[in-house]
Amino acid sequence: MGFKEKIIPDKLPKHIAIIMDGNGRWARQHGHDRIFGHQHGVDAARAAAEASAELGVGYLTLYAFSTENWNRPKYEVEALMTLFVETIRKELDTLNKNNIQLNAIGDLKSLPEENYNRLMETIEETKKNDRMVLTLAMSYSSRWEITEAVRRILSQQDTHQYKAENITEELIAKNLNTADMPDPELLIRTSGEARISNFLLWQIAYTELYFTQKLWPDFTKETLYEAIVDYQNRERRFGLTSEQIIS
Ligand code: FPP
Repeated sequence: MGFKEKIIPDKLPKHIAIIMDGNGRWARQHGHDRIFGHQHGVDAARAAAEASAELGVGYLTLYAFSTENWNRPKYEVEALMTLFVETIRKELDTLNKNNIQLNAIGDLKSLPEENYNRLMETIEETKKNDRMVLTLAMSYSSRWEITEAVRRILSQQDTHQYKAENITEELIAKNLNTADMPDPELLIRTSGEARISNFLLWQIAYTELYFTQKLWPDFTKETLYEAIVDYQNRERRFGLTSEQIIS
Protein backbone atom coordinates (compact mmCIF):
# COMPACT_ATOMS: atom_id res chain seq x y z
CA MET A 1 0.00 0.00 0.00
CA GLY A 2 1.37 3.42 -0.95
CA PHE A 3 1.19 6.45 1.31
CA LYS A 4 -1.70 7.98 -0.66
CA GLU A 5 -4.08 5.22 0.44
CA LYS A 6 -3.12 5.83 4.07
CA ILE A 7 -4.20 9.47 3.99
CA ILE A 8 -7.33 10.19 6.05
CA PRO A 9 -9.35 12.67 3.93
CA ASP A 10 -11.06 14.25 6.97
CA LYS A 11 -7.72 15.06 8.60
CA LEU A 12 -6.10 16.71 5.62
CA PRO A 13 -4.08 19.86 6.43
CA LYS A 14 -5.84 22.92 4.99
CA HIS A 15 -2.53 24.69 4.44
CA ILE A 16 0.86 23.15 3.65
CA ALA A 17 4.00 25.28 3.45
CA ILE A 18 7.23 24.04 1.88
CA ILE A 19 10.84 25.21 2.14
CA MET A 20 12.23 23.89 -1.14
CA ASP A 21 15.91 23.20 -0.48
CA GLY A 22 18.73 21.27 -2.12
CA ASN A 23 18.61 22.26 -5.79
CA GLY A 24 22.30 23.20 -5.79
CA ARG A 25 23.44 19.97 -4.13
CA TRP A 26 21.26 17.90 -6.44
CA ALA A 27 22.83 19.61 -9.46
CA ARG A 28 26.34 18.98 -8.14
CA GLN A 29 25.52 15.31 -7.56
CA HIS A 30 24.43 15.10 -11.20
CA GLY A 31 27.57 16.87 -12.44
CA HIS A 32 25.84 20.09 -13.49
CA ASP A 33 25.75 23.71 -12.38
CA ARG A 34 23.25 25.05 -9.84
CA ILE A 35 20.86 26.39 -12.49
CA PHE A 36 20.25 22.84 -13.72
CA GLY A 37 19.06 22.00 -10.20
CA HIS A 38 16.67 24.97 -10.15
CA GLN A 39 15.25 23.93 -13.53
CA HIS A 40 14.48 20.48 -12.15
CA GLY A 41 13.13 22.13 -9.02
CA VAL A 42 10.30 23.53 -11.13
CA ASP A 43 9.11 19.97 -11.92
CA ALA A 44 9.08 19.17 -8.20
CA ALA A 45 7.07 22.35 -7.48
CA ARG A 46 4.57 21.29 -10.13
CA ALA A 47 4.28 17.82 -8.58
CA ALA A 48 3.70 19.33 -5.12
CA ALA A 49 1.01 21.68 -6.48
CA GLU A 50 -0.73 18.96 -8.48
CA ALA A 51 -0.76 16.50 -5.61
CA SER A 52 -2.02 19.12 -3.15
CA ALA A 53 -4.86 20.21 -5.45
CA GLU A 54 -5.85 16.60 -6.22
CA LEU A 55 -6.04 15.77 -2.52
CA GLY A 56 -8.09 18.86 -1.68
CA VAL A 57 -5.51 20.89 0.26
CA GLY A 58 -6.79 24.48 0.22
CA TYR A 59 -3.50 26.38 0.43
CA LEU A 60 0.02 25.52 -0.68
CA THR A 61 2.79 28.03 0.06
CA LEU A 62 6.23 27.62 -1.53
CA TYR A 63 9.34 29.47 -0.35
CA ALA A 64 10.72 30.34 -3.79
CA PHE A 65 13.13 33.20 -3.03
CA SER A 66 14.15 34.70 0.30
CA THR A 67 15.30 38.22 1.06
CA GLU A 68 18.71 36.70 1.79
CA ASN A 69 18.82 34.96 -1.64
CA TRP A 70 19.53 38.37 -3.25
CA ASN A 71 23.09 37.91 -1.94
CA ARG A 72 23.72 34.87 -4.16
CA PRO A 73 26.03 35.29 -7.19
CA LYS A 74 24.52 37.69 -9.72
CA TYR A 75 24.28 35.08 -12.49
CA GLU A 76 22.28 32.75 -10.21
CA VAL A 77 19.86 35.49 -9.12
CA GLU A 78 19.32 36.48 -12.75
CA ALA A 79 18.81 32.87 -13.84
CA LEU A 80 16.30 32.31 -11.03
CA MET A 81 14.34 35.45 -11.94
CA THR A 82 14.22 34.37 -15.59
CA LEU A 83 13.12 30.89 -14.55
CA PHE A 84 10.33 32.33 -12.36
CA VAL A 85 9.01 34.59 -15.14
CA GLU A 86 9.07 31.75 -17.69
CA THR A 87 7.46 29.28 -15.32
CA ILE A 88 4.63 31.61 -14.35
CA ARG A 89 4.02 32.40 -18.03
CA LYS A 90 4.02 28.71 -19.01
CA GLU A 91 1.81 27.57 -16.13
CA LEU A 92 -0.99 30.12 -16.53
CA ASP A 93 -3.19 27.79 -18.61
CA THR A 94 -2.61 24.87 -16.27
CA LEU A 95 -3.50 27.02 -13.26
CA ASN A 96 -6.77 28.06 -14.89
CA LYS A 97 -7.59 24.54 -16.14
CA ASN A 98 -7.07 23.21 -12.63
CA ASN A 99 -8.93 26.07 -10.96
CA ILE A 100 -5.87 27.15 -8.94
CA GLN A 101 -5.43 30.73 -7.78
CA LEU A 102 -1.91 32.20 -7.79
CA ASN A 103 -0.89 34.42 -4.92
CA ALA A 104 2.42 35.93 -3.80
CA ILE A 105 3.86 37.18 -0.53
CA GLY A 106 7.04 39.13 0.13
CA ASP A 107 8.67 42.39 -0.86
CA LEU A 108 7.31 42.06 -4.41
CA LYS A 109 8.23 45.61 -5.37
CA SER A 110 11.91 44.62 -5.09
CA LEU A 111 11.53 42.07 -7.92
CA PRO A 112 12.64 42.96 -11.45
CA GLU A 113 9.86 44.83 -13.23
CA GLU A 114 9.10 41.96 -15.62
CA ASN A 115 8.73 39.51 -12.72
CA TYR A 116 6.53 41.89 -10.78
CA ASN A 117 4.27 42.62 -13.76
CA ARG A 118 3.94 38.98 -14.79
CA LEU A 119 3.18 37.95 -11.23
CA MET A 120 0.49 40.63 -10.84
CA GLU A 121 -1.08 39.75 -14.20
CA THR A 122 -1.22 36.06 -13.34
CA ILE A 123 -2.65 36.78 -9.90
CA GLU A 124 -5.34 38.90 -11.60
CA GLU A 125 -6.03 36.26 -14.28
CA THR A 126 -6.45 33.46 -11.74
CA LYS A 127 -8.24 35.36 -8.98
CA LYS A 128 -11.62 33.69 -9.54
CA ASN A 129 -10.20 30.16 -9.18
CA ASP A 130 -11.24 28.58 -5.92
CA ARG A 131 -9.96 25.01 -5.72
CA MET A 132 -6.59 25.88 -4.15
CA VAL A 133 -4.48 28.97 -3.48
CA LEU A 134 -0.87 28.51 -4.55
CA THR A 135 1.27 31.16 -2.86
CA LEU A 136 4.82 31.91 -3.92
CA ALA A 137 6.98 33.56 -1.28
CA MET A 138 9.23 35.83 -3.35
CA SER A 139 11.81 38.17 -1.89
CA TYR A 140 10.19 37.12 1.36
CA SER A 141 11.45 36.98 4.90
CA SER A 142 9.38 36.72 8.01
CA ARG A 143 11.22 39.45 9.90
CA TRP A 144 10.65 41.79 6.94
CA GLU A 145 6.94 40.87 6.94
CA ILE A 146 6.52 41.46 10.69
CA THR A 147 8.42 44.75 10.49
CA GLU A 148 6.17 45.84 7.61
CA ALA A 149 3.07 44.90 9.65
CA VAL A 150 4.20 47.07 12.56
CA ARG A 151 4.91 49.96 10.16
CA ARG A 152 1.48 49.57 8.58
CA ILE A 153 -0.27 49.59 11.97
CA LEU A 154 1.63 52.71 13.03
CA SER A 155 0.80 54.46 9.77
CA GLN A 156 -2.91 53.76 10.38
CA GLN A 157 -2.58 55.31 13.82
CA ASP A 158 -4.31 58.57 12.90
CA THR A 159 -7.41 56.96 11.42
CA HIS A 160 -7.80 54.15 13.94
CA GLN A 161 -6.49 55.81 17.12
CA TYR A 162 -4.65 52.67 18.20
CA LYS A 163 -3.65 52.67 21.84
CA ALA A 164 -1.08 50.22 23.19
CA GLU A 165 -3.84 48.05 24.68
CA ASN A 166 -5.54 47.80 21.27
CA ILE A 167 -2.54 46.03 19.75
CA THR A 168 -3.69 42.42 19.62
CA GLU A 169 -2.46 39.22 17.98
CA GLU A 170 -5.43 39.48 15.59
CA LEU A 171 -4.44 43.02 14.56
CA ILE A 172 -0.86 41.95 13.85
CA ALA A 173 -2.03 38.84 11.93
CA LYS A 174 -4.40 41.00 9.88
CA ASN A 175 -1.49 43.18 8.78
CA LEU A 176 0.75 40.32 7.66
CA ASN A 177 0.98 39.32 3.99
CA THR A 178 -0.86 36.13 4.94
CA ALA A 179 -3.93 37.93 6.35
CA ASP A 180 -6.33 36.00 4.11
CA MET A 181 -4.90 32.54 4.79
CA PRO A 182 -5.17 30.09 7.66
CA ASP A 183 -1.89 29.27 9.40
CA PRO A 184 -0.15 26.21 7.93
CA GLU A 185 -0.75 22.97 9.80
CA LEU A 186 2.23 21.31 8.12
CA LEU A 187 5.61 22.75 7.13
CA ILE A 188 7.92 20.58 5.03
CA ARG A 189 11.62 21.24 4.46
CA THR A 190 13.70 19.15 2.10
CA SER A 191 17.45 18.40 1.92
CA GLY A 192 18.01 17.37 5.53
CA GLU A 193 18.42 20.88 6.94
CA ALA A 194 16.41 21.30 10.15
CA ARG A 195 15.91 25.06 10.28
CA ILE A 196 13.21 27.58 9.37
CA SER A 197 15.33 30.23 7.58
CA ASN A 198 13.11 33.24 8.29
CA PHE A 199 9.95 31.65 6.81
CA LEU A 200 6.46 32.30 8.26
CA LEU A 201 7.80 32.65 11.83
CA TRP A 202 4.55 34.13 13.16
CA GLN A 203 2.29 31.72 11.29
CA ILE A 204 4.03 28.46 12.31
CA ALA A 205 3.51 28.87 16.07
CA TYR A 206 1.61 25.54 16.20
CA THR A 207 2.60 24.04 12.85
CA GLU A 208 3.89 20.47 12.63
CA LEU A 209 7.39 20.41 11.12
CA TYR A 210 8.47 17.66 8.75
CA PHE A 211 12.06 17.33 7.56
CA THR A 212 13.05 14.97 4.77
CA GLN A 213 16.52 14.09 3.48
CA LYS A 214 15.28 14.27 -0.10
CA LEU A 215 16.77 17.08 -2.18
CA TRP A 216 14.05 19.31 -3.68
CA PRO A 217 14.31 18.09 -7.33
CA ASP A 218 13.73 14.53 -6.00
CA PHE A 219 10.51 15.59 -4.26
CA THR A 220 7.55 13.69 -5.73
CA LYS A 221 3.83 13.36 -5.05
CA GLU A 222 4.71 10.29 -2.96
CA THR A 223 7.03 12.43 -0.77
CA LEU A 224 4.10 14.75 -0.10
CA TYR A 225 1.77 11.83 0.72
CA GLU A 226 4.39 10.44 3.13
CA ALA A 227 4.67 13.83 4.90
CA ILE A 228 0.87 14.08 5.22
CA VAL A 229 0.60 10.56 6.67
CA ASP A 230 3.33 11.41 9.18
CA TYR A 231 1.45 14.61 10.10
CA GLN A 232 -1.83 12.71 10.53
CA ASN A 233 -0.19 10.32 12.99
CA ARG A 234 0.86 13.12 15.31
CA GLU A 235 -1.11 14.39 18.26
CA ARG A 236 -1.61 18.16 17.98
CA ARG A 237 -2.01 19.49 21.50
CA PHE A 238 -1.82 23.30 21.16
CA GLY A 239 -0.43 23.53 24.69
CA LEU A 240 -3.07 21.23 26.23
CA THR A 241 -2.49 17.80 27.80
CA SER A 242 -3.02 14.53 25.96
CA GLU A 243 -6.04 13.74 28.19
CA GLN A 244 -7.70 17.06 27.35
CA ILE A 245 -7.36 16.35 23.61
CA ILE A 246 -8.90 12.86 23.90
CA SER A 247 -11.86 13.88 26.07
C1 FPP B 1 16.75 25.82 -2.97
O1 FPP B 1 17.86 25.18 -3.44
C2 FPP B 1 15.85 26.49 -3.90
C3 FPP B 1 15.73 27.86 -4.11
C4 FPP B 1 16.65 28.87 -3.62
C5 FPP B 1 14.60 28.46 -4.80
C6 FPP B 1 14.37 28.12 -6.21
C7 FPP B 1 13.30 27.14 -6.34
C8 FPP B 1 12.92 26.64 -7.50
C9 FPP B 1 13.55 27.07 -8.79
C10 FPP B 1 11.84 25.64 -7.53
C11 FPP B 1 10.73 26.05 -8.42
C12 FPP B 1 9.81 27.00 -7.85
C13 FPP B 1 8.92 27.75 -8.49
C14 FPP B 1 7.87 28.39 -7.71
C15 FPP B 1 8.89 28.00 -9.95
P1 FPP B 1 19.31 25.74 -3.06
O2 FPP B 1 19.81 26.53 -4.20
O3 FPP B 1 19.23 26.45 -1.75
O4 FPP B 1 20.08 24.38 -2.89
P2 FPP B 1 21.42 24.10 -2.05
O5 FPP B 1 21.08 24.35 -0.60
O6 FPP B 1 21.69 22.65 -2.32
O7 FPP B 1 22.50 25.00 -2.57
